[in-house]
Amino acid sequence: MGEKRLVIEGKRPLQGTVQISGSKNSAVALIPAALLATGPSILENVPNIRDVKVFCEILRELGADIQHYPEEKRLVIRPNGFSSYRAPYEQVKRLRASYYLLGALLARFGRAEVALPGGCDIGIRPIDQHLKGFRSLGAEASLEHGIVKLSAKKMTGTQVYLDLVSVGATVNIMLAAVLAEGTTVIENAAKEPHIVDLANYLNAMGAKVQGAGTDVIRVRGVTSLQGCTHTIIPDDIEAGTYMLACVSAGGDLTVENVIPKHLDSICAKIVEMGAQVCDKGDSVRVISEHRPKAVTAKTLPYPGFPTDLQQPLVAVAARADGVSVIQETIYDNRFGYVNELIRMGASIKVDGRTAIVEGMPTLYGAPVHANDLRAGAALVIAGLGAEGETSVYRMEHVERGYDSMLDKLQAVGASVSIEEA
Ligand code: EPU
Repeated sequence: MGEKRLVIEGKRPLQGTVQISGSKNSAVALIPAALLATGPSILENVPNIRDVKVFCEILRELGADIQHYPEEKRLVIRPNGFSSYRAPYEQVKRLRASYYLLGALLARFGRAEVALPGGCDIGIRPIDQHLKGFRSLGAEASLEHGIVKLSAKKMTGTQVYLDLVSVGATVNIMLAAVLAEGTTVIENAAKEPHIVDLANYLNAMGAKVQGAGTDVIRVRGVTSLQGCTHTIIPDDIEAGTYMLACVSAGGDLTVENVIPKHLDSICAKIVEMGAQVCDKGDSVRVISEHRPKAVTAKTLPYPGFPTDLQQPLVAVAARADGVSVIQETIYDNRFGYVNELIRMGASIKVDGRTAIVEGMPTLYGAPVHANDLRAGAALVIAGLGAEGETSVYRMEHVERGYDSMLDKLQAVGASVSIEEA
């Protein structure tokens, strides 16, 4: 299969309703969690994205029995035949979230050997806090030839204070602690909605997890977990992406099947940009009739403005009235896509972790390259608001995390098509 590009004819207002899929970042935490049970789990509202397919392939290669029914948005995971505690580089390199196998395999087998993963190139992404958690629980941890090796004779509940708020470390320590003896307390834990989703899933399996959604999570170890059925929460980042697409292109768009509370920080920014936002219970409507206004924003752990929408926000700011100042505090190198926006006529200066965006009245369509998932989303958003034709190359990156983006955009009036070279 050749390279895919999305061809966009800009300046078509978005009108109608977009159904939001299940959360990517929740799905990739829940899939390895299913390996901890003695029986099968059914996950519902699973997004049909490449990261999910790749994770299923990795687990099948390691011996798990997984059926994926994309039409029904369902995964059936039977963990019984799963017997390998090793996940080599060839398998995990395609997926950053494969590091959740560390916590899951450690809990299940008392040992894990998982190669350091790949994923989006958005800065240094160490896992020291994950290892600190595993070690506190009683595991020995080492890095040998690119492989993280963990082993524990016994895992015992402990207190872990995270030096920084890390989604991945919080998930991994929760996974490792659910079957440990005694109580584990994770302090300075991440509060993202998918942490709560993971806790709800684990509790439905018989775990005793309290406090998820606050910065102190208590995990009381149990001796076994059963499989269960669980519905994955809606993807707040996908919802935010379409809301920002509406601000960029103009229009009247409703994102449906969302939890509006998860979108508070995004709604606030969109209102500051001059668009109208209405919370309608399980949907949010955005009406954008004028050129957006400039904003200041700073990415922060939840409930702050999410780093995963920093790139889409800058894409809107590029056409806003005034100078926007957008600060990235989570990653040290998440502005790589800015050069592509500049090709479209944007005026953006990056100083360390801050982008200073002088809004232009018009962006002009151009061929641009998506170098990672959210960068790709940002370029699509810029193309929807630009004059003329934009081709976003390397849409494969976008398909990692966005379910049916082409169909969803076409259904609300965007002029978009996929071409394969
Ligand atoms: N960090 C450390 N040490 C650690 C762990 C993290 O220094 O042991 C640093 C990271 O380098 C980063 C910051 O802490 O600077 C936050 O990292 P975090 O661990 O929270 O991120 P993650 O678990 O690797 C998840 C999402 C990302 C999302 C971040 C922040 C998944 C699979 N990935 O990554 O999603 O940006 O949380 O919300 O859940 C995306 O969807 O595009 C994406 C990159």
